[in-house]
Amino acid sequence: MSWRATVLTIFPELFPGPLGASLAGKALAAGVWSCEAVDIRNFGEGKHRSVDDTPAGGGPGMVMRADVLARAIDSVSQRDDSRPKLLLSPRGKPLDQVRVRQLAAGPGVVLLAARFEGVDERLIEARRLEEVSIGDYVLSGGEIAAHALIDACVRLLPGVMGKEASGAEESFEAGLLEYPQYTRPQEFEGRGIPEILVSGDHAKVKAWRRAEAERLTRERRPDLWAGRGAKPPEKA
Ligand code: ADE
Repeated sequence: MSWRATVLTIFPELFPGPLGASLAGKALAAGVWSCEAVDIRNFGEGKHRSVDDTPAGGGPGMVMRADVLARAIDSVSQRDDSRPKLLLSPRGKPLDQVRVRQLAAGPGVVLLAARFEGVDERLIEARRLEEVSIGDYVLSGGEIAAHALIDACVRLLPGVMGKEASGAEESFEAGLLEYPQYTRPQEFEGRGIPEILVSGDHAKVKAWRRAEAERLTRERRPDLWAGRGAKPPEKA
């Protein structure tokens, strides 16, 4: 069975969207994974198939209804479906490469891409949704976050990426940002390529890259740098 992504959304036309291009798109066409978008409105209430209502307690915006969302989820997620059910939300636990690896190694995902001001809390509890955020900023809906999550998983499926994926991956999973890369031309607008990289000395190249990865991580991501404590610092 191939890896399955099901997205519940009021904008089903956004899928596969960008995931239909490039390597993810080729793998989709080849049947390595599948992408199904389910229109939440099909489970809406009344003539207007409405999916939201005003918040209990007052206040601005609208809240997605628990009953409507439960019908949508239950239509795709049967008892024999072991896929995790995730709600994309800025309130969720930040998505990281460790969770992405776990999700990619499983049967797939059921994603709820919410709009409006939020989702009735009872639905999150009753369907045991895992809330996941893709960063500390607010998107106008979960759809673009769903694209990001699916893309991160699909590129890890066997046969989707070549060897080039693994280098960056290893660096990131070792808790470091990637070292700077260069290619031809030898000189660009007066800037050369660091001497060591054209020296042919592989040990020196390796040490330089390690030092640069560490420098960038310290400068840009003190949080990642501090969290590296688990692994002893490697001697370059
Ligand atoms: N929906 C709106 N903002 C989001 C975010 N940062 N991550 C995941 N889903 C979202």
